[in-house]
Amino acid sequence: MSSEDFIRRDFQTVHGYPMVYAFAQNWERIEQFKCRPEDIWVITYPKSGTTWLSEIMDLIKNDGSVEKQEKIPITERVPMLESATPGLGPPSSEYLEKMPSPRFVKTHLPIPLLPKNFWECNSKIIYVARNAKDVAVSFYNFDRMNKYHPDPGTFAEYLEKFMSGKVAFGSWHEHVTSWWEKKKDHPILYLFYEDIKEDPKREIRKVMEFLGKKLDENALDRIVQRTSFETMRDNNMVNYKSLPTNLMDHKISPFMRKGITGDWKNYFTVAQNEKFDADYEKKMSGTTLKFRTEI
Ligand code: A3P
Repeated sequence: MSSEDFIRRDFQTVHGYPMVYAFAQNWERIEQFKCRPEDIWVITYPKSGTTWLSEIMDLIKNDGSVEKQEKIPITERVPMLESATPGLGPPSSEYLEKMPSPRFVKTHLPIPLLPKNFWECNSKIIYVARNAKDVAVSFYNFDRMNKYHPDPGTFAEYLEKFMSGKVAFGSWHEHVTSWWEKKKDHPILYLFYEDIKEDPKREIRKVMEFLGKKLDENALDRIVQRTSFETMRDNNMVNYKSLPTNLMDHKISPFMRKGITGDWKNYFTVAQNEKFDADYEKKMSGTTLKFRTEI
């Protein structure tokens, strides 16, 4: 099959979860992936600030120095476990296998799809969650520009799919709540996009402490500046503009789109909002997890 055969394909179901068709091929590579105790994971439901956190983590690791960060794309510094571009090169898992420790590993996988030895490694995990309404809007625009996903249709059509979990990686509700539960028995730093937006330095400090690093105020300020939305939007090492346009077309919608909280208000009609809230209440009734949809 050529790389073109993976464009705009329907999801393939993997153990009950809708998976990006290109990623779903040769799934044994994910099940058999060997994690290492010294790995540090960044885990998110898509569109929750993964790239943002990845850049923050990598800058902290390097004490705020940007030497490597200016030359190496984020996809190589924090590779995404399940990512694969068949016909264009080996899958990320192969790259990760060759990477020296300590590795940063990114994934959007829900708990049941994790590699078989994942929990044995007891690795550190940073989970980032973002409110469902802004995720739905960001994901909709991402599906428009990312040709590895099926066409999302209209926003109204997409929102129905989002609510019923018929989007890549399945249900947002299940993802954020099940990872929240895991926090009880595993070292997980659970962060919120809205909190990072509100006070980036405070949240970056939390990440620093979790990673066991000590950076001075100047280094922290540099990281805040370098990971602002505007700086990241214009930074070709993190804005995904280096990918071929037949995979991601930034003219349709840039990957670094708006970077705000509350954009959902520009998309949801009153009726959609009411339906979404009623559905949300049902699905989130059993959890203590709370989100902010504006800051
Ligand atoms: P929007 O589409 O709402 O703009 P992920 O990396 O998980 O795919 O998330 C992408 C979302 O995070 C996009 O949201 C993107 O603009 C936003 N984002 C990326 N870097 C950011 C930053 N430095 N500050 C705020 N938002 C950022």
